[in-house]
Amino acid sequence: VADNDAPNVADLVVGLFGGTGEQGRGLARRLALAGQPVFIGSRSANRALAAAEALRADTGSSTVSGAPNLDVARYADLVIVAVPYEGHRDLLAECADPLAGKVVVDCVNPLGFDEQGAFPLRVPAGSAAEEAAQVLPRSRVVAAFHHMSAVQLLDPDRDRVDTDVLVLGDDRAATDLVQALAERIPGVRGVYAGRLRNAGQVEALTANLISVNRRYRGHAGIRLSDLPGYS
Ligand SMILES: NC(=O)c1ccc[n+]([C@@H]2O[C@H](COP(=O)([O-])OP(=O)(O)OC[C@H]3O[C@@H](n4cnc5c(N)ncnc54)[C@H](OP(=O)(O)O)[C@@H]3O)[C@@H](O)[C@H]2O)c1
Repeated sequence: VADNDAPNVADLVVGLFGGTGEQGRGLARRLALAGQPVFIGSRSANRALAAAEALRADTGSSTVSGAPNLDVARYADLVIVAVPYEGHRDLLAECADPLAGKVVVDCVNPLGFDEQGAFPLRVPAGSAAEEAAQVLPRSRVVAAFHHMSAVQLLDPDRDRVDTDVLVLGDDRAATDLVQALAERIPGVRGVYAGRLRNAGQVEALTANLISVNRRYRGHAGIRLSDLPGYS
């Protein structure tokens, strides 16, 4: 951790919308392994409970539970949104009241795919994260975790995920919190990367990463060079 004054996030209950999917399960797994209390969300209570049970068995953590997304919004301290872009706006609108005042972390990459590969979709708000902020004006929206590969997160043979997590937002205390949360995962550096209005290119960069990973048959993330404060 670069900053000795980083907030203590150890007891924060982290909810995951779409916690049954690849990215949600991956993030939940790494956070649970770090001892974080985790609340798996889903559109289906049964799927959430099954995913939570599987994660408890996988990680040995006793602080993993599951519930419908709306209950996760009510009872989690912070929520990570890990659903496909198509379902993003409606789900957030449905949960706007219980998410008021909370930090909401958007990792949604609005991407299309065709015969040439992945490409960024045009989002009227500028980015999925800015759309989240429009739908959730009473929440503290942060953008992060866009470039972390679910395959790496779920790989049982990998103890560390040596990558940078770009964290963007307009609320400094909220971005500090999310940087500290990202750094609960061994190998991760949480790096502040600007205001929410700059989230569009961070989301779009994922299309380039997908091209890299197709060409080189890997699951590369990003690592910034010569970042002061880190050894
Ligand atoms: N996969 C990656 O490596 C990766 C990396 C970085 C960021 N992301 C981003 O993370 C998000 C999730 O990616 P993923 O690969 O995990 O996707 P996914 O497995 O297809 O979906 C995740 C979960 O979202 C829920 N869901 C699906 N459609 C929905 C809808 N219309 N409304 C509400 N919930 C819906 C499903 O859970 P229930 O059916 O249980 O509700 C599903 O398990 C995407 O926005 C993606 O861009 C992914």
